[in-house]
Amino acid sequence: MVGIDFGKPLFTSEEIQRKIHELGARISTDYADKDLLVVGVLKGALFFMSDLLRSLRISVRMDFIHSTSSASQDREHPVHIIADMKEDIKGKHVLLVEDIIDSGLTIDFLKRMLADRGPASLKVCVLLDKPGRRQVQIEADYAGFRIPNKYVVGYGLDYKERYRNLPYIAVLPLEERQTP
Ligand code: IMP
Ligand code: MG
Repeated sequence: MVGIDFGKPLFTSEEIQRKIHELGARISTDYADKDLLVVGVLKGALFFMSDLLRSLRISVRMDFIHSTSSASQDREHPVHIIADMKEDIKGKHVLLVEDIIDSGLTIDFLKRMLADRGPASLKVCVLLDKPGRRQVQIEADYAGFRIPNKYVVGYGLDYKERYRNLPYIAVLPLEERQTP
């Protein structure tokens, strides 16, 4: 059995929900008079996207991009697009929702990809921000928690596809990193 009790969470599910309500209130105000399309990046943003959408007080539409890190560590193409979004975003207000911004390569790539499609506006919302590891100069427009240079799992974030289903966010213990 693979253990999923990592002791004290970095952020409890209550803390996560409180932060999401703050973000949701800001986004609701900022887009009060706009038709917003929220685009979640799967799989990491699954739970964040779902709770964030339900915290909004404005009517929005949603879509998803399913991407995965490329094994090659290619800076120009840091992700593979497994499934692209369905909606045509030309002339639309788009909010890209990701789990975490780390090196920044993924968000930078996705932003450039979507910007080429001519949206009216394009902003980024992330739950977690690891500013200490940035490789490209990029910031999220909405960011939940700043975290130190630790590998975290839970609430959508994985280590080798595990631990996404933890309801809280925890630092991955070093010994768990060896788990196949
Ligand atoms: P970036 O391209 O380096 O900004 O990384 C973005 C992606 O790396 C995220 O979508 C996550 O999938 C993954 N990632 C970065 N840091 C962590 C972490 O601490 N835990 C889990 N996944 C992470
Ligand atoms: Mg991910």
